[in-house]
Amino acid sequence: MKAMHALSGRARELIDAEERYGAHNYHPLDLVVEHAEGVWLWDVDGNRYLDCISAYSAVNQGHAHPRILAAMIEQAKRVTLTSRALRNDRMPGFLEKLTRLCGFDMALPMNTGAEAVETAMKLARRWGYEVKGIRDGAAEIVVFSNNFHGRTTAIISASTTPEYKRHFGPLVPGFVPVAYGDFEALERAITPNTCAILIEPIQGEGGVIVPPDGFLKRIWGLCKEHQVLFVADEIQTGLGRTGDLFACDYDGVKPDILVVGKALGGGFYPVSAALADEPVMGLFKPGDHGSTFGGNPLGSAVASAALDVIVEEKLVQRARYAGAKIMQGLRAIASPAIVDVRGRGLLIGVELNLRARILSKALLERGIAAKDTQETVLRIAPPLVIDDDAIDYFLDRFKDAVAAIQAPTA
Ligand SMILES: Cc1ncc(COP(=O)(O)O)c(C=O)c1O
Repeated sequence: MKAMHALSGRARELIDAEERYGAHNYHPLDLVVEHAEGVWLWDVDGNRYLDCISAYSAVNQGHAHPRILAAMIEQAKRVTLTSRALRNDRMPGFLEKLTRLCGFDMALPMNTGAEAVETAMKLARRWGYEVKGIRDGAAEIVVFSNNFHGRTTAIISASTTPEYKRHFGPLVPGFVPVAYGDFEALERAITPNTCAILIEPIQGEGGVIVPPDGFLKRIWGLCKEHQVLFVADEIQTGLGRTGDLFACDYDGVKPDILVVGKALGGGFYPVSAALADEPVMGLFKPGDHGSTFGGNPLGSAVASAALDVIVEEKLVQRARYAGAKIMQGLRAIASPAIVDVRGRGLLIGVELNLRARILSKALLERGIAAKDTQETVLRIAPPLVIDDDAIDYFLDRFKDAVAAIQAPTA
């Protein structure tokens, strides 16, 4: 297969400028995207790539979805931002659609995922003091090893990954980490001061780690037994990605607080939210929390259309079908380089016995953009609109790339 990823002068120039003027807080693949549509990306030299990253699951609906684009343009001509000092005519419909779809009384709209996680943390602490009766300042939130909930100071305080925290202290107290999947350790970690358990129902950044079946259900039972809130961070796993509307649905669990983001903005605009029923969300009073951009009319119009696309195009079912087909194809590849293929729906992890960056680069040369998450795990997460032809394209090229890294040319 022809290698297609030699960097042109134009691409080199852009990469150099980014490195020169931008902070070096990422280590991206050297693919300079110029436009995108559906599951495809085109670089500045006109080469086409299958997107298996989907902006970390923010583009579940596919790039430049015409319906979301139309909603965005139409709203941009009317009014984009009012702040919450005023009301706007788009937010109520969006919130009604979101809460009905997710099955909660109320939602608090924010922008990025990290902000929605912060919202959930504050809400859980508030509930701990005002409902559970925890002594002020003593509330604890149980979190899991290898979690990823974002990058704010409170959130990195809950992280167990040393490089996320190094020289960013003093950190925020009150987080108790336990090993992901270890129910007995979790039971031991619960104290009378525990207000919440915060969990990703499948760990995405952690390496596509799927907990044992029934793990979430057992945690939910533990929460009920000890009067603790079950807080699910479905920013990456939610809105169809795992072949259910939410990954918690797989275990039949309804969280007390649900956190959504990424695909809620359809890849166009950052929109996130924390959702809960009235006895919990009702604890927020005017002035307690907010954001200038949260719930703005442009974001509300975009998110409304993004939700419609997920429902009306049956993206949940498509993720389930396409994910099963891709996983079956990956498992059929007989290669000593592949240690494990795991995941659910279109959130797939391929564990390798070599650095995943090596395979990621080989894939890029063959027209596939897929990125390592942990050192040895490649994450495969294309937009949910992927069709059979694109799946065949993916599997053919993936096989070829794996064969090439097994037998490198001298
Ligand atoms: C599970 C999870 N939570 C939170 C976040 C943070 O979202 P954002 O980058 O929009 O702040 C991410 C981002 O990757 C995520 O995967």
